[in-house]
Amino acid sequence: MTPAADGRAPRFDERAARYDDLRPTSAAWWERFEVLVEAADLRGRRLLDVGCGTGQLATALVERAHAKVWGIDPSAEMLAVARRRVPRGVGLKRACAEDLPFRDGWFDRVTMSLVVHLVDRPAAFAEAFRVLAPGGRLAIATFHPDHFDGYWLRGFFPSIAVIDRHRFPSPRELERQLASAGFAATAAIRVRSVETLAREQALARIRGRHISTFDLLDADELREGSARAERELPDRVEVRLEQLVVVAHR
Ligand SMILES: C[S@@+](CC[C@H](N)C(=O)[O-])C[C@H]1O[C@@H](n2cnc3c(N)ncnc32)[C@H](O)[C@@H]1O
Repeated sequence: MTPAADGRAPRFDERAARYDDLRPTSAAWWERFEVLVEAADLRGRRLLDVGCGTGQLATALVERAHAKVWGIDPSAEMLAVARRRVPRGVGLKRACAEDLPFRDGWFDRVTMSLVVHLVDRPAAFAEAFRVLAPGGRLAIATFHPDHFDGYWLRGFFPSIAVIDRHRFPSPRELERQLASAGFAATAAIRVRSVETLAREQALARIRGRHISTFDLLDADELREGSARAERELPDRVEVRLEQLVVVAHR
């Protein structure tokens, strides 16, 4: 991803070691997984997971959906974690969504989970289209921009909602960009859920800067928001999730 003019950019290498502890697969994660598998018909497919990170989704796709999975990610550290955890048979390569090291038409399915806000979408969607066989599908999992209106951290770090409403594309924008890349029909499904975090879990996420948006905040907001969260977070924190699954047909 291109750094902003002020030099701030998401840093996934630094997040890799604690990513799975701070962002574990929860009930909401599995709910979204089931929607993704059903809506994009992922069972048993030859599949590329773009921006595979630590391999959470790749692992679930092999173990629960019996897919034959490749994963790519530009972060060497995220890939190092993935290499230790994915089942045998998963192929991993260091690469970017915008320049995939695979032949035309090689995959039945491409997945992008929590990635479309980080990539050059026109280039990434064109590459997904290229590596998909005719009749293939691209399955996107992301957050709906509305997610950030009720985001549990916005009281402490108000810029997160502003930045992420801008970073995360709407269903309409995705549909337009997917059509420009050549995809035919697209379907969008909203997945709403509520989770509860214990205070210590919530604080661990803040202290561990669990989402990349923390890298885009200025130092004062980070310091003041963190101090206020330490003082004010209640024993139980309600987290509302507005996830979005979009499936595009090649
Ligand atoms: C929020 S994590 C999501 C990881 C994983 N897909 C998941 O759902 O847990 C975003 C991932 O996208 C990767 N990424 C960032 N820029 C990318 C790009 N241009 N192409 C492919 N992946 C990218 C990061 O390295 C990181 O591993």
